[in-house]
Amino acid sequence: MLRSSLVSLAVTAATVTGLALDPRATTPYDSTWHPSTYTTAQVQSLLSQKLRCCTALSVVFGSKVSYPNSTTYDASLLSYWSIQEEEVTPTCVFTPSTKEDVSLAVFVLNVGGKVFPGRCNFAVRSGGHTPFAGAANIEEGVTIDLKNLNSVIVSADRTTVNIGPANRWQNVYSQLDAQGLSTSGGRVATVGAGGLITGGGISFFSPRYGFVCDNVLSFEVVLASGQIVSANATSNPDLWRALRGGSNNFGIVTNFKMRAFAQGEFWGGYIGLAVDSLQTQLQAFEDFTGSPNYDPYASLIYSLVLDPASGTWSVACSIEYTKSNPAVVNPPYFQNFTSLPQTFSTLRVSSLTDKTVELAYSNPIGFRQLFATGTYGNSAKQMLAIYQAGNSTVQSIRNVPGLQWSLSYQPEPTIITSKAVTSGGNSLGLDVSDGNLVNVLLTATWNNTADDARVNAAAKALFSQAGASAKKLGVTNPYLYLNYAAPWQDPIAGYGAANVAALKAASAEYDPSGVFQKQVPGGFKLK
Ligand SMILES: Cc1cc2nc3c(=O)[nH]c(=O)nc-3n(C[C@H](O)[C@H](O)[C@H](O)COP(=O)(O)OP(=O)(O)OC[C@H]3O[C@@H](n4cnc5c(N)ncnc54)[C@H](O)[C@@H]3O)c2cc1C
Ligand SMILES: *[C@@H]1O[C@H](CO)[C@@H](O)[C@H](O)[C@H]1NC(C)=O
Ligand SMILES: *[C@@H]1O[C@H](CO)[C@@H](O)[C@H](O)[C@H]1NC(C)=O
Ligand SMILES: *[C@@H]1O[C@H](CO)[C@@H](O)[C@H](O)[C@H]1NC(C)=O
Ligand SMILES: *[C@@H]1O[C@H](CO)[C@@H](O)[C@H](O)[C@H]1NC(C)=O
Ligand SMILES: *[C@@H]1O[C@H](CO)[C@@H](O)[C@H](O)[C@H]1NC(C)=O
Repeated sequence: MLRSSLVSLAVTAATVTGLALDPRATTPYDSTWHPSTYTTAQVQSLLSQKLRCCTALSVVFGSKVSYPNSTTYDASLLSYWSIQEEEVTPTCVFTPSTKEDVSLAVFVLNVGGKVFPGRCNFAVRSGGHTPFAGAANIEEGVTIDLKNLNSVIVSADRTTVNIGPANRWQNVYSQLDAQGLSTSGGRVATVGAGGLITGGGISFFSPRYGFVCDNVLSFEVVLASGQIVSANATSNPDLWRALRGGSNNFGIVTNFKMRAFAQGEFWGGYIGLAVDSLQTQLQAFEDFTGSPNYDPYASLIYSLVLDPASGTWSVACSIEYTKSNPAVVNPPYFQNFTSLPQTFSTLRVSSLTDKTVELAYSNPIGFRQLFATGTYGNSAKQMLAIYQAGNSTVQSIRNVPGLQWSLSYQPEPTIITSKAVTSGGNSLGLDVSDGNLVNVLLTATWNNTADDARVNAAAKALFSQAGASAKKLGVTNPYLYLNYAAPWQDPIAGYGAANVAALKAASAEYDPSGVFQKQVPGGFKLK
């Protein structure tokens, strides 16, 4: 069926029901529309029989729509990182092969949602690594699983790379490593591109190139109308900025054109440190993060990990020094950490792919998971207070079966936040005036649904105590990293009033009837 037929179907449906139709739905789309063998009459008949949107999609897309207990459907659910997302059971899973498939499906869902409100809700899923239920999956709705949009194509001049949204970073890096190139992306092999980039993105290369979203030269986006547009510095620049942090609020990104750069093997890995020198380590972290001469090749994740059985903590630092050709072993910038006695070390020179595979071992799929986050001014005292809050709030849940509880501190110095300005701007609301910051991530893992409420309550208590100590120490910051936020946090509000207003304006412009606000309820929405 041609788009013109669908447009007339939409107009008919809108006329019959008296509902206003998104004006963009009738805007002609300037590329070849996805052909299908079905007639307007057939689809119209389906909709008039008030069948659910999955049926309409099945008519148009056949076997690209799958249902419970089919191999495709079950594999899609089993590939979510957390059990909470895996437990959400959509009516059907749609697995498009092309951007035109995505476009036609969004058009059908948009129309269907207007004819039968509440019946054509959908979710957008790339790597499926958001921990909480419903971010990239939906009960009684359509989950658009982009898993087949996973190409990696380097430009002829090797300065850019096009990546499909459902790439896992391992797939991107292994192809780029082979060509002596890289791009800014996730640090864990299994994580997806789509969510990570549109939510901001922290990379080993962030001190060199900023947040991952700052490295998007152009987004290819399917809007609510089904129209496929580019969002970049010269075409729809307000949408370009909105998608740099605005997550799933504006459309479905079907391609990211990223900056690429020469990169070879580099030095890094994990070291374990004894917790008895904690205060020294936290001071080293503050010095590292706050240095006026921050070394742009230095990337650090400092993690405190609880052993719930004994109540004791240990420290693991992910240290990466991304200088290559040649790689630099044991660079001075890390020596306040590397000179301390180590309980273990995996430091070595190897590829980016190898480093991200290593980080994936400590983040296995298939557990109940919670992320929660805070951002604070760089202060060893605050990091100690958060550790103490993490230790005191966990005591009442230490007996939760399968509990894992860890705190990660990541430098977010001005060398990172300054990059947004020079790369066209983003929506995160961070800049050099925020000073050097520390991103704090709590990761909790446990076995049983019955403990969900207790674990969430302990996490809330932790961040409430962390907020109180930040206030006392004068190190508060409203920013919450969206990709680390718990469902009870509001990261978009933390972008600040001006950014929120710009995001709302972009939503009004590109999605005037609010399809991505109302029909896509999952994840972090504009409010
Ligand atoms: C093990 C692990 C390691 C991590 N490591 C890092 C790291 O190194 N750096 C970092 O910054 N973050 C990291 N994160 C956080 C990560 O950025 C988020 O979990 C992110 O959401 C993952 O993206 P995804 O595509 O896998 O997620 P999904 O759950 O598929 O999507 C996340 C959100 O984005 C939306 N979305 C997805 N694709 C699209 C699209 N194409 N168009 C529009 N909206 C879309 C979804 O609707 C959903 O709301 C990590 C997370 C985990 C679990
Ligand atoms: C899927 O299979 C399981 C058991 O194999 C069964 O309990 C369940 O009802 C099936 N679901 C559907 C929707 O058919
Ligand atoms: C921006 O989009 C326009 C329109 O599609 C395109 O011609 C241009 O090449 C894009 N710019 C970049 C940097 O990709
Ligand atoms: C290492 O520690 C010393 C103080 O012990 C400090 O002056 C220096 O800035 C630190 N170096 C880095 C790179 O953090
Ligand atoms: C953690 O809290 C427990 C209970 O209050 C206390 O006994 C223990 O000493 C604390 N551990 C650390 C490292 O602060
Ligand atoms: C938690 O689940 C894991 C994986 O299923 C299992 O190995 C472990 O024994 C469980 N722990 C408890 C205390 O039940």
